[in-house]
Amino acid sequence: MGKLIKFNIAKAIKRFMPIKQIDHGSAEYMQMVELRNEILRKPLGISFSHEELGREKEDILIGAFEEQKMLGCCLLTKIDNKNVRLRQMAVLNSVQGKGIGATMMNYAENVARDNGYTKMVMHARKSAIGFYEKLGYKLTGDEFIEITIPHVIMEKKLR
Ligand SMILES: CC(C)(COP(=O)(O)OP(=O)(O)OC[C@H]1O[C@@H](n2cnc3c(N)ncnc32)[C@H](O)[C@@H]1OP(=O)(O)O)[C@@H](O)C(=O)NCCC(=O)NCCS
Repeated sequence: MGKLIKFNIAKAIKRFMPIKQIDHGSAEYMQMVELRNEILRKPLGISFSHEELGREKEDILIGAFEEQKMLGCCLLTKIDNKNVRLRQMAVLNSVQGKGIGATMMNYAENVARDNGYTKMVMHARKSAIGFYEKLGYKLTGDEFIEITIPHVIMEKKLR
């Protein structure tokens, strides 16, 4: 019974959760930076610099919404014409584990394909390896430290 309710809520959230591209510098982008700060940076005691955010002007910025509220986000940074890097994947703590991250990844992969990319690459936090593996990503190298925590490179061919 509990499982059935969880499944239905997850299904309902996905159905009514628009995922869209947002503009750098917009009010939605400010929400995105706040969400990323909360989920990805504050727990490590670090924040974003103006230079770092300024470099995102060329990126594809993606947000998942419930009405006007951003529930999750990620972004795509061009490496070259064929390869793109997924970065800054984050879902609000209160709604993690309900399929939002997986739905955003599916959207991001479709956007990447539409833009002609054939491979998605990421520096995945070690704690998130299982999430990406479920979506078909493979480890390609050794562990390294980035922003003070262990990461690995993962990638997937986009067919
Ligand atoms: C990692 C994160 C983006 C996943 O998003 P989410 O919405 O919570 O994940 P989903 O509910 O879509 O999960 C999809 C599947 O992956 C699994 N999963 C989710 N997070 C996982 C994790 N950290 N480790 C292993 N498996 C995980 C889920 O159990 C689910 O499995 P199922 O399909 O068998 O039910 C989110 O939990 C998050 O923001 N975490 C904190 C920040 C972070 O680590 N970001 C990634 C940086 S590389």
